[in-house]
Amino acid sequence: MSSNLSLKKLILDLERLESEAAKQIAEANDADSVEKLRVSFLGKKGSLSNLLGGMGKLPSEERPVIGQRANVLKAELQKLLSERQCFLKEQALAETLSKESIDVTTPPIGTSLGHRHPLIATTEEIVDLFCGLGYQVAEGPEVENENYNFTALNIPKEHPARDMQDTFYLGGDLLLRTHTSPVQIRHLEQNPPPVRIVAPGRVYRRDAVDSTHSPVFHQVEVLAIDEGLNFSHLRGTVLAFLKAFFGDLPVRFRASYFPFTEPSVEVDVEWRGRWLEVMGCGMVDPAVLEGLGLDPERWSGFAAGLGVERFCMVRHGVDDIRRLYTSDLRFLEQF
Ligand code: DAH
Repeated sequence: MSSNLSLKKLILDLERLESEAAKQIAEANDADSVEKLRVSFLGKKGSLSNLLGGMGKLPSEERPVIGQRANVLKAELQKLLSERQCFLKEQALAETLSKESIDVTTPPIGTSLGHRHPLIATTEEIVDLFCGLGYQVAEGPEVENENYNFTALNIPKEHPARDMQDTFYLGGDLLLRTHTSPVQIRHLEQNPPPVRIVAPGRVYRRDAVDSTHSPVFHQVEVLAIDEGLNFSHLRGTVLAFLKAFFGDLPVRFRASYFPFTEPSVEVDVEWRGRWLEVMGCGMVDPAVLEGLGLDPERWSGFAAGLGVERFCMVRHGVDDIRRLYTSDLRFLEQF
């Protein structure tokens, strides 16, 4: 009778445990809580083990009854626990998915590809055109001395032509080159004629900044020295170059003066209804050749110099030179 009682009590306890566990599992709201419940019901020191500890008091024939019940209960609780875990996982996933909705219409944040600055592109285009005519690229330093920048170009000290180019002097006889013409001298010193060179580079003048002036700007110098070169060669070369760059704009040659060429001309193209000066050029002055130890009776040639900014501005219809230096992407990305 007494054993029957404890058997009944044990079964009752198991049933209570089952309903209590089922209730708590159904209420657990995250993975951690479910795991804690597993430990507290099924762990080594959990409720089920505790209950089964009382089994020893039962007569041996009744123990299997309880053992079997306990196994069923254990399996049942394990099933409830893993179902709850799955449910919570799915719920969390569904929640993140609904929060992290993806707007497929937003524009992509890709990195845009860079490209060459219009001034660089213009320089390269000019240089390329002369390379196509058989010219080679030459370069010279931006810090020059008075000899290369002036004297060797037939602009002696005190000559008023030095005032044509307001100069940044650096002390001693050093200065920032005011034009790319010194490259003519440097190249001829190292390379005996015949020569054909095109020399791009940065130049400096003490000009106040406005829509057409900048204290730093870019030039391309051209020089051809050979036997028998005359003004027709200069004219033909300049016309071929301008046509290749600008297309069929009207061109005019206007008599001018440069100390290092004789005769000298300035070249204008007609643009937006008016003549616009685009380059200076002329036949290399015999005094320049003599200064280099070259016999002007044998060697002759022509030189030209142009401002890259102006070519760039005419090509692209840019109205203010400052736009080329301020690195405003809204402007630059148009090119
Ligand atoms: N160096 C001149 C200047 O900066 C431009 C120039 C004119 C260059 C005539 C030349 C030339 O080579 O022949 O104003």
